[in-house]
Amino acid sequence: MQIFETLKADHENFKKLMEQLLATPPDDNSRTDLITQIRNELIPHVRAEEAVLYNTMRSMDVGEDAVRDSYREHMEIEALLRTLREKDTLIHEAQKTAENLKGVLLHHIEEEEGKVFAIAQKIFTPEESEMLNHAFVELKHRVGEESDLKTTLEYIANLMPPRFSNIFRGKKQSA
Ligand SMILES: [Fe+2]
Ligand SMILES: [Fe+2]
Repeated sequence: MQIFETLKADHENFKKLMEQLLATPPDDNSRTDLITQIRNELIPHVRAEEAVLYNTMRSMDVGEDAVRDSYREHMEIEALLRTLREKDTLIHEAQKTAENLKGVLLHHIEEEEGKVFAIAQKIFTPEESEMLNHAFVELKHRVGEESDLKTTLEYIANLMPPRFSNIFRGKKQSA
């Protein structure tokens, strides 16, 4: 399996979860669990996507603008997700934030598949795309077990040029 198939399958899952969230009234008890589920599936996806796909592309100097936009959108998605988790008791705000998140997420998925994947599919061989898939699946699983603080630090590390991010990660581990 190539990384693009795995990522697209995740994207389809996010679209379904967002539909489910918007169909769940803010005062419904299941909403908190659903938001937690979205967080627990979305954050490992974006973090592993950055580390495995975006950073490999950056190291090859391809798709610079598209990748930079995607990083920014990940940050926007995470900010909305945080707001959604914090303000879930305010019914009006909660629904507005859920709609915003859906809008930003759908836009991101469209741009990512249409621009980032389109560029990546031209530069990676099928074998390389399979290797990236293995790395993505493995890393996603690992990120899933990390705390919010750790995943935020990983976001910062992923944004750095590799030689700096390695130092940053090294320091973090020994701290
Ligand atoms: Fe993605
Ligand atoms: Fe993404």
